[in-house]
Amino acid sequence: MIQEDFLKKLISHSKEYGFIFPSSEIYDGLSAVYDYGQYGVELKNNIRQYWWNAMVRLNENIVGIDSAIFMHPTIWKASGHVGAFNDPLIDNKDSKKRYRADNLIEEYRDKLQDKIDKEVDKAHKRFGESFDKEMYLSTNPKVLEYQSKIDVVNTRLVNALKNDDLNELRQIIIDCEIVCPVSGTRNWTEVRQFNLMFETKMGSVDQEASTIYLRPETAQGIFVNFLNVYKSGRMKIPFGIAQTGKAFRNEIVARQFIFRMREFEQMEMQFFVRPGEELSWFEYWKEKRIRWHKALGFGDDKYRFHVHDKLAHYANAAVDIEFDFPMGFKEVEGIHSRTDFDLSQHQQFSGKKMQYFDADLNQNYIPYVIETSIGLDRTVLLVLSASYAEEKVTNKDGSVEERVVMRFPPALAPVKLAILPLVKKDGLPEKARVIMDSLKLDFICQYDEKDSIGRRYRRQDAIGTPYCVTIDHDSLETDTVTIRERDSMLQERVPVNAVRDIIAENVNMRSLLEKV
Ligand code: GAP
Repeated sequence: MIQEDFLKKLISHSKEYGFIFPSSEIYDGLSAVYDYGQYGVELKNNIRQYWWNAMVRLNENIVGIDSAIFMHPTIWKASGHVGAFNDPLIDNKDSKKRYRADNLIEEYRDKLQDKIDKEVDKAHKRFGESFDKEMYLSTNPKVLEYQSKIDVVNTRLVNALKNDDLNELRQIIIDCEIVCPVSGTRNWTEVRQFNLMFETKMGSVDQEASTIYLRPETAQGIFVNFLNVYKSGRMKIPFGIAQTGKAFRNEIVARQFIFRMREFEQMEMQFFVRPGEELSWFEYWKEKRIRWHKALGFGDDKYRFHVHDKLAHYANAAVDIEFDFPMGFKEVEGIHSRTDFDLSQHQQFSGKKMQYFDADLNQNYIPYVIETSIGLDRTVLLVLSASYAEEKVTNKDGSVEERVVMRFPPALAPVKLAILPLVKKDGLPEKARVIMDSLKLDFICQYDEKDSIGRRYRRQDAIGTPYCVTIDHDSLETDTVTIRERDSMLQERVPVNAVRDIIAENVNMRSLLEKV
């Protein structure tokens, strides 16, 4: 399926089946803001719980907090967000459309890469089995020309971003003859910096009110509580503080569904270590986090590390975990070695000593920090896109139909089981209700007696319910039911009193946590 078509399908499936709705839809929506529906919220909560359990429950030296979204405005000066949390913007004077200058250049570079890929495909078809890709890439004049353009643009882009050189960014756009995708012209403005933080006022009277910001990341709430947690929890280094919650960014180019939103959730953990030991902890967390991803079972080849070309001035190592989204490989999580930058800045701006007393070394120091930072909504998109499947199904009567099935890992599925009386009479609904009332104490269950059993299975497949429990006439005689498994569609007859344990065994988060 073409990638763009796949994303469109996912968006419409998410809406039709109650996962994700555009925000304020009856008022024509609000750009890059989304609401989670009845199944989306369960999926999101399960992903959050998987992360929380893996970070907080499984690690005795990591604790969680929940800090406020509103924070003292000086925090954002200390963190550098007031001065430097910017994107470089450029406008096209004809279309009046606004773009991120670096994105325009990246797209240009990606198009050159596409051209190389097309040349390789063509040559592969022409030469068949004897095709030597390495040789072709290193000798074909057309490919070499494209590659040299890519290399030049890459070097210029990295240097321009490193040096915050806005004129050079514009010059690259001019030199590469990049046109506005809407007007098709090269009539560009200067490049300007645009701060991504949302501002609001705190206080009742306008004159007295002070400007505060909606937090653009959850991490600073952890840094400013470092002393509180360290002291009240009698924490010993190395230790971590985790939290999940909303963050807000006035993204200029917000698109690709819930990949880039203006209001989103992060799951972040700051791990405080002895100075000098940070790079080995960085490696430790890199490996641990990729294991968390791979345990979901979507395929190891769907993930890769991307080492940052440009390190932030306070970082001494940074890597992204990228996933093969419908739009290609993109960042889902960042792992950063942030040195003592944040705590030192808060020490300087607040005047409070942000130090740890290391009894083993008999020494005070500002700890170094390894951060793991993953977008919750982006992980929802990851899980939705990796789980979506279209299949042909042959019915008992030989007819073939198509089903859309969300192959969620059972522990993440919004609804764990559906209770389906075969017919709406003969005492089957009553029996089904008794089973439902007992199982809903343990799992999110759904009762459905409407339409044919086949249609009901299709509805459960579309929301990714791993098990359907069917109550038929034999159930009344023998106190048994059939359990149908979503992926294999196999059915097994089991005693009613065994259902709870069978489902519990298979939808438990334990099997995921054992792998991380
Ligand atoms: N504290 C570090 C930090 O915030 P980041 O790379 O800016 O780092 C971390 O963000 C993660 O948050 C990203 O990997 C991504 O998954 C998610 N994220 C960032 N901006 C986002 C947005 N506009 N919409 C959805 N998720 C976003």
